[in-house]
Amino acid sequence: MPTSPEQLTRYEKIESFVKGFKLSSLTYKRVMSLLDEEMKNGLRSQTNTYADIKMFPTFVRSLPNGSEKGQFLALDLGGTNFRVLLVKLDGNSIDIQSKTYLIPQKIMLGTGAQLFDHIADCIAKFTRDHGLLGERLPLGFTFSFPCKQEGLNIARLSKWTKGFRCEGVVGQDICRLLHEALKKKTSAEIEIVAVVNDAVGTLMSTAHGDNNCEIGLILGTGCNACYMERLENVGLWEGDYSYPEQVVINTEWGAFGDNGCLDFIRTEYDRELDTFSINPGKQLMEKMISGMYLGEIVRLVLERLTTEGLLFRGIDRECELFERGRFFTKYVSEIESDRDEFFRSTKQVLDELQVENYTTEDCKIVRYICTLVSSRAAFLASSGLATLINKLGRPEMTIAVDGSLYRFHPRFHNLMRLKIQELVKPGLKFSLALSHDGSGKGAALVAAVAMRLRDVKQE
Ligand code: GLC
Repeated sequence: MPTSPEQLTRYEKIESFVKGFKLSSLTYKRVMSLLDEEMKNGLRSQTNTYADIKMFPTFVRSLPNGSEKGQFLALDLGGTNFRVLLVKLDGNSIDIQSKTYLIPQKIMLGTGAQLFDHIADCIAKFTRDHGLLGERLPLGFTFSFPCKQEGLNIARLSKWTKGFRCEGVVGQDICRLLHEALKKKTSAEIEIVAVVNDAVGTLMSTAHGDNNCEIGLILGTGCNACYMERLENVGLWEGDYSYPEQVVINTEWGAFGDNGCLDFIRTEYDRELDTFSINPGKQLMEKMISGMYLGEIVRLVLERLTTEGLLFRGIDRECELFERGRFFTKYVSEIESDRDEFFRSTKQVLDELQVENYTTEDCKIVRYICTLVSSRAAFLASSGLATLINKLGRPEMTIAVDGSLYRFHPRFHNLMRLKIQELVKPGLKFSLALSHDGSGKGAALVAAVAMRLRDVKQE
């Protein structure tokens, strides 16, 4: 890239500030063996209490078989939006109507009662608008936070992650909280039959039609994975051992590294981002990978390079680039979509951030920083998936993937495909399949399976 001696030193200097993002294959393999060890600690009952990766058994034991039928409500809570869906299943055909509601930041950081009242209000409105008031509606709830499940519809929140911190919910059964709020807010006959994590919904949605799918991955606001595990390996299993002797495990691997084991790869930017987050010291792997954080990591690097006089020389210190949280992860996707030297999207982003007098060379550097940060994220996610693929050891495996980062970033899919290929045991084949509406369809499918099994028991 550098052309003149002056530029050469500029690029050499930049390298010294970003070399921490370039990790060798050997390093990713070390990450894999640490993750494998931490996941084992989460699965064993003797070590689970102290383990960072909680490996929650989900009570989802069977994947859908295509015979699921009926009309279900589904809820999807886990990012900045909340969705209510009406899902009609009939064998392999599926019809979804949905509406998205905003969760204001005030509610994300308010009390649990405010949050569940708000959700119940949205559901009441949705059922009214869709003429569902007289109908009996089983509901599947995609609640994308770590929960200790005591049954398919009993889930105690273990901690908040991402941008949420509602008071009085940790330790509580979120289905009961929703049930009570619904009783107050609507006369519709709604029965909460299942609660699932979004990774589990994603797995269910793709497994409906693909028998090789046993892993689900989310690369969105947060990052998490789930997979099908044999009951004999699940030390925490308290349910019955009837056929099939397996259960989906929600790994909650976003918390990998919270005990310091990933400090050897964390950069000064990761540490600064963590310090100013609402949950310092928590979700450290997630903070290096997911959509809630990647933009901010890039911003911190750009800020540092600017302060060092290596970028945007003569920039106004008041400009928005210097505001925390102002550089969204969608900008990273947009900037990396610039394939030529016109830098159309990059310039648009810089204009939005009020950066003035930037040069083409500045644009090149900005794009370069984005590629470094997103590649490390994709490679870390790949190390996680490769660990699971090697652990399951199936000759062919489909991985269901969903989330805005994976969907909209131009290179994530390919970067991951190549890196996983490099890291899995020889002979194991895999494919990454984009899951369609995992949270909505997945929650409805879990609810449908639950209703089917209930009907079988009653017969
Ligand atoms: C966070 C949550 C997890 C969720 C993931 C993706 O890691 O703790 O439950 O699956 O984000 O939304």
